[in-house]
Amino acid sequence: QTTRLWGGRFSGGPSDALAQLSLSTHVDWRLARHDIAGSRAHARVLYASGLLTGEELETALAGLDRLEADVESGAFTPVLEDEDVHTALERGFIERVGPELGGRLRAGRSRNDQIATLIRMYLREQSRAIAGELLDLATALADQAEANIDVVLPGRTHLQHAQPVLLAHHLMAHAWPLVRDVQRLRDWDQRAAVSAYGSGALAGSSLGLDPESVAAELGFTEAAENSIDGTSARDTVAEFGFVSAMAGVDLSRLAEEVILWATAEFSFVTLDDAFSTGSSIMPQKKNPDIAELARGKSGRLIGDLSGLLATLKGLPLAYNRDLQEDKEPVFDAVDTLRLLLPAMTGMVATLTVHGERMAELAPRGYTLATDVAEWLVRQGVPFREAHEIAGACVRTCEKRGVDLNELSDDELAAVSAHLTPDVRQVLTVAGSLESRASKGGTAPVRVREQLGRLRDEIARH
Ligand code: ARG
Repeated sequence: QTTRLWGGRFSGGPSDALAQLSLSTHVDWRLARHDIAGSRAHARVLYASGLLTGEELETALAGLDRLEADVESGAFTPVLEDEDVHTALERGFIERVGPELGGRLRAGRSRNDQIATLIRMYLREQSRAIAGELLDLATALADQAEANIDVVLPGRTHLQHAQPVLLAHHLMAHAWPLVRDVQRLRDWDQRAAVSAYGSGALAGSSLGLDPESVAAELGFTEAAENSIDGTSARDTVAEFGFVSAMAGVDLSRLAEEVILWATAEFSFVTLDDAFSTGSSIMPQKKNPDIAELARGKSGRLIGDLSGLLATLKGLPLAYNRDLQEDKEPVFDAVDTLRLLLPAMTGMVATLTVHGERMAELAPRGYTLATDVAEWLVRQGVPFREAHEIAGACVRTCEKRGVDLNELSDDELAAVSAHLTPDVRQVLTVAGSLESRASKGGTAPVRVREQLGRLRDEIARH
């Protein structure tokens, strides 16, 4: 007795090479629980359509319960002859309830509508776990922001000192993209909440089954409008791949800054021992491996998405076996994020921030030059001219090797008559920060409000 689901029209078995190539249980076995849940729902619609008696339904459900327990305990596992998770579980089901009832369960469904449904069930479940882990990281960033609410650092553009900003403002600029990734997962989940069960191989079923009741039992909001679309679309999987890749890129950008900040040259942060690694030869080393792995694995997540899209491109309708290749990349994306996120959260939560060092560098590189220009604008000077004047101050400072607030009254006046000693009011980091008080700005009052809104947004999900 073969476990194959399609032997009837063949006179011989498949070649070894084909059997090996065809095998997918090493990948899709993780869908076993969802496959069994689908079988339960399917047994119920078979009963509702009169294709199973009440007694058969009870026996089938009890058999599925036993099968699930055996899958969970490891007592039942796929064997080499089982082509995929569906084949293996049908074998297990038949072993438990006998060939007569065991053979009835497949009526009105196909592995094509099964797999299209199961992957959505699995990814929807994982999306919730990943969203929770993304929010944990956003919370760790918010906590560091709050714990270091007064710390200033030189904000950068082009990696050059630009204007002073609050560290909290900077950290939250990493948290908001993570919150948007969570929003993306939530939006995605609504589109993914469509069951393909009942689509059959591609054309639907003639057995009078009720796809909507299967959909409801499996936690979907509805059944597919179109059985061809139901079995052959994988945009849902690709979109999940995109959100994963985007989250990977967001992690990578945060990681890159942690790597820079932990260098001797920056000395902005120290990594906790539990979240850094040593060198096998250099005893003094403390390496930011978590951040580097985040940066590296973002490439892998992008690759998962590219691979998925390349698989889908040019596929004719409806189901093609190529579609089996959707699972490895998207499972890899799930596994990668679920490894990375807790490590990143731990690394961020345990960072020691060197606020004095950041503050010391905040005004360096003439980061207050924009404040001079904007002060001049408030005195009625056109911005074009104000920009020139502030630039000339920087030139003078560079020549003399001093900072903007160290220019004498005479030196200021020599640059421009508009530069009265009053300009010094804005030549402090604190003054510069406070002046940037429009919505979204780095002024301490705005940043505190922002922190509240970030916390609210995190709590909302
Ligand atoms: N294992 C397949 C997949 O993952 C489902 C099986 C469909 N096979 C078939 N010959 N129609 O897509």
